[in-house]
Amino acid sequence: MEEKINAMPRIGDKAPEFKAVTTQGEINFPNDYKGSWVILFSHPADFTPVCTSEFMTFATMAEKFEKANTKLVGLSVDGLYSHIAWLRTIKEKIEYKGMKDVEVKFPLIEDITMEVAMKYGMMMPGESNTKAVRAVFFIDPKGIIRTILYYPLSLGRNFEEIYRVVLGLQTADAFSVALPADWQPGDDVIVPTAGSCGVAKERMESKEEMKCYDWFFCTKKLDRQKILDTVLKK
Ligand code: BEZ
Repeated sequence: MEEKINAMPRIGDKAPEFKAVTTQGEINFPNDYKGSWVILFSHPADFTPVCTSEFMTFATMAEKFEKANTKLVGLSVDGLYSHIAWLRTIKEKIEYKGMKDVEVKFPLIEDITMEVAMKYGMMMPGESNTKAVRAVFFIDPKGIIRTILYYPLSLGRNFEEIYRVVLGLQTADAFSVALPADWQPGDDVIVPTAGSCGVAKERMESKEEMKCYDWFFCTKKLDRQKILDTVLKK
């Protein structure tokens, strides 16, 4: 049991497979999502305040993620009817920070057996034996885990950061670049580090539009619109 709880997929691993019941019907994960990016995220429990603020924020941003070819899938260790009742309450009764009448259209997995939560290392007994922590798995169109974030029960996630991760991963892939601290679309990007002495010398002498802080640290401009045209669906 302890070993199962502690099993944690890592960046670069294939996303563990599972079939589950959700508020949008059954899903076969990650096969049903081939060709799309997916954010699989857990929350501790239905009918709790931090989770409610998170769901309202995520649901309000869902169209932005859809445009970036990214599907959202939530999970908690609660049953289907609790999920349905909570999502109905959110839509019918909760007004928060200007958000109201919020309909959560993405699937929310019922996981009372904790089978999926355990597969994904979402149970952290030091934090809670019965509630999943706030985990976020970014999975690419080939079903590979590309980024993992974990937050505790008491701290709501930053959804603008989650969106930045989606754009960052897709930008790094599409343009074969790396992205510096606090990068936002439109900021300079990092060109791959020189892999030979010759390339290092060329870099330092190059007239190309590049800024080298040293031979191993060169950046170039990458237009924000070019990124958005590549990453976002029209
Ligand atoms: C919340 O979402 O508010 C919450 C859930 C579990 C423990 C603490 C807070």
